[in-house]
Amino acid sequence: MNQVRIGIVGVGAMGGAHARNILENKINRCVLGAVCDIDPARLKEFTTVPQFSTHQKMLRSGKVDAVLIATPHYSHVTVGLAAFKAGRHVLSEKPLGVHKADCEKFIAGHTDKKLVFAEMFNQRTNPYYIKIREMVRGGELGAIRRINWIITNWFRSEVYYASSAWRATWVGEGGGVLVNQCPHNLDLFQWIFGMPRRVRATCRLGHYHAIEVEDDVTAYMEYDTGTTAVFITSTGEAPGTNRLEIVGENGKLVYENNALTFIRNAIPTTEYSRTTEKIFGQPDTTIVPISLGDDQGGQHNAVLQNFIDAILDGTPLIAQAAEGLNSVELGNAMLYSSLKNKTVELPLDSAAYKRTLKQLINNSKFTKKEVRTGTTSAEDMNKGFNK
Ligand SMILES: NC(=O)c1ccc[n+]([C@@H]2O[C@H](COP(=O)([O-])OP(=O)(O)OC[C@H]3O[C@@H](n4cnc5c(N)ncnc54)[C@H](O)[C@@H]3O)[C@@H](O)[C@H]2O)c1
Repeated sequence: MNQVRIGIVGVGAMGGAHARNILENKINRCVLGAVCDIDPARLKEFTTVPQFSTHQKMLRSGKVDAVLIATPHYSHVTVGLAAFKAGRHVLSEKPLGVHKADCEKFIAGHTDKKLVFAEMFNQRTNPYYIKIREMVRGGELGAIRRINWIITNWFRSEVYYASSAWRATWVGEGGGVLVNQCPHNLDLFQWIFGMPRRVRATCRLGHYHAIEVEDDVTAYMEYDTGTTAVFITSTGEAPGTNRLEIVGENGKLVYENNALTFIRNAIPTTEYSRTTEKIFGQPDTTIVPISLGDDQGGQHNAVLQNFIDAILDGTPLIAQAAEGLNSVELGNAMLYSSLKNKTVELPLDSAAYKRTLKQLINNSKFTKKEVRTGTTSAEDMNKGFNK
């Protein structure tokens, strides 16, 4: 095989963009083998390639070697498992699934390790996050004391929530900002810092919008090392902030407004607790700006290219799908903590969270006032609960 025929399932906003990028030859050794959408209107743009109304028909057609899943969240697992059964490589949009138990099922279904299984974590290609990870994991900050991430630049209007029936409902999406916008940030969080031991969060449901799921979150997390973290997100604030501040014994690293600054301590703060002699007051500091320009990295096309290269050449993945479980677990733990009004220990009890989410779905009396387009995915949601 010298090129990969990719089939895109779901050619809405994101899947449509992926399809256009492939058709415009932005991905080497990749051709658009087919598109699939349950909404015929969404297929109209892609008349030059074979079209299918269900992923099953597309998988049976023999027209694709790999599947890119860009459907609403619950169906990622359904479509992905069917693709594995049909012997196809899988690239799933984020999140891997809506709840941890469903992700575990998805990962367990990847039995043929010759099949590449990747996730679209495009923000891992951002040079700033790559640099932060290198510095944290490489020990430049020393022991990490405190992490603060305010990521509130996900403002969304009511029109956005009305744009598809599935959005921002327990039954259609399984959550709000933690499931839709923040998988990127939660993934970067665990990619850089690893997983915390416990989570305490307040998630306000429909705080800014006429929705039933969370659109405002403040979470406090603790690591076994003693490191603490605060993660704040919202889709209701403007102007929003993206500020990641990491304090270690060697200084403070701040990422904001596309700029990275390291304020380095002349003496690590731990030295102060080792001796009472000679050193008084705060350490002297040096400001070290880290300039990486405006480049945001290769983003979606880089992850897609990497997926193709992994299939054809065995190139290591930017984001293995199995790692996508962590961001789902973090988001689930925040919601669970808030709903149960308690601190949650990780690993999260995936069955307990699944039951809670199912109760939210069953007890929901919410109806959307306005829906512009789109389809619900009740069938996939039911599969997510083994129905
Ligand atoms: N990586 C990113 O930066 C990024 C950005 C936006 C969206 N996304 C992800 O992409 C996915 C889709 O989001 P969107 O904004 O494009 O939604 P959308 O509603 O615009 O598109 C979803 C499409 O899937 C179709 N669909 C639904 N169920 C299907 C099924 N079972 N089989 C085939 N088609 C089906 C719908 O008809 C629709 O055309 C989500 O997982 C979302 O989180 C990722």
